[in-house]
Amino acid sequence: MDQVIISADPQYAAFDQFLQRVGARRTFLVCDGSLPFLPIADYLRSYSDQHDRALVSFSDFSPNPTYESVRKGVACFRKERCDLILAIGGGSAMDVAKCVKLYAEMDDTRNYLTQPIVPNSIPLICAPTTAGTGSEATQFAVIYYNGEKQSISHPSCIPSAVLFDPDFLKTLPEYQKKSTMLDAFCHAVESLCSVRSTAESNRFALRALQILIKNAEDYLGRNTCRSEMLTAANLAGKAINISQTTAGHAMAYKLTSLYGIAHGHAAALCVAELLPFMADHMDLCVDPRGKEHLQGVFEQLAAVFGRSDIESMCEAVRQFILQTGLSRPTITDDTQLGLLCSSVNPVRLKNNPVPLDPQTIRAIYQRILTEQVN
Ligand SMILES: [Fe+2]
Repeated sequence: MDQVIISADPQYAAFDQFLQRVGARRTFLVCDGSLPFLPIADYLRSYSDQHDRALVSFSDFSPNPTYESVRKGVACFRKERCDLILAIGGGSAMDVAKCVKLYAEMDDTRNYLTQPIVPNSIPLICAPTTAGTGSEATQFAVIYYNGEKQSISHPSCIPSAVLFDPDFLKTLPEYQKKSTMLDAFCHAVESLCSVRSTAESNRFALRALQILIKNAEDYLGRNTCRSEMLTAANLAGKAINISQTTAGHAMAYKLTSLYGIAHGHAAALCVAELLPFMADHMDLCVDPRGKEHLQGVFEQLAAVFGRSDIESMCEAVRQFILQTGLSRPTITDDTQLGLLCSSVNPVRLKNNPVPLDPQTIRAIYQRILTEQVN
């Protein structure tokens, strides 16, 4: 089923009508600490006054949410007899909300992670407060169980509707704005390259890239085009929901934890170095559609950037990333390089059209951490 996109208006009238149409009586609101500062806070304060309905807020989670937080969320959802889940926030709020939706009707005497997921009809609505993760369009959620990352994936946790409020992005810190935009950009580029891409995911990814390229300068420089960025991030999310991400994301995760840089920032540094490598090694392509397919993908990417060849496309991608002015971390000792190389997720790497052996991964990390930025 197509996801319903609801555009915010000053009084959230369309959103309110949607909630009434769905018949929500008791809404379970998953939100982080930013909520009181968002324009929707006034609407939510008066929410319970109307139409015989209630709002139950849940904020007992942190960035990189844990299974325990999700368990508490499910318990609260049940105790309060809620009938709709609304997430307002970034990736963590949406991850928690997705898991609450998945586990809401499962056996609470056993570990949810070991039970088969039984789809339910509880509506899930997400309102992203950044333009980047695209989480509101995907079936993926990440939580931590006993310190270990758990990747949850089930089609029934794709939100049935999203609320896009460009005003949410108005006061985003500059670094967050840049890094989340780059996250969406990498989702689109990696989706196009993925061996799991389809005609549909390519349409989403190409459209996302067109919007990102056209509006990035105004978004970053003038704080306009926020609505366009929400759309682009959503389309890129829809693309990776089909194709998944590739080597850029596989290599990015440890960069974020080791150097404290944002996820999108790390992914962009990786994608900028991976693309030229892949372009130079198309003969090694493992996509069953062959080298010609990969070449076609690169040519489509070149066309989106208005470039006529693959080499200048790689340069255009690099320039797109560099325009944000984000720096790259520098390596301080060899142990870090070893840590990075051993951290790469082999499952995600399998989606990459050109295989990366350990020496190549090492060489690419070295380039990421030592290259001059201009
Ligand atoms: Fe990402």
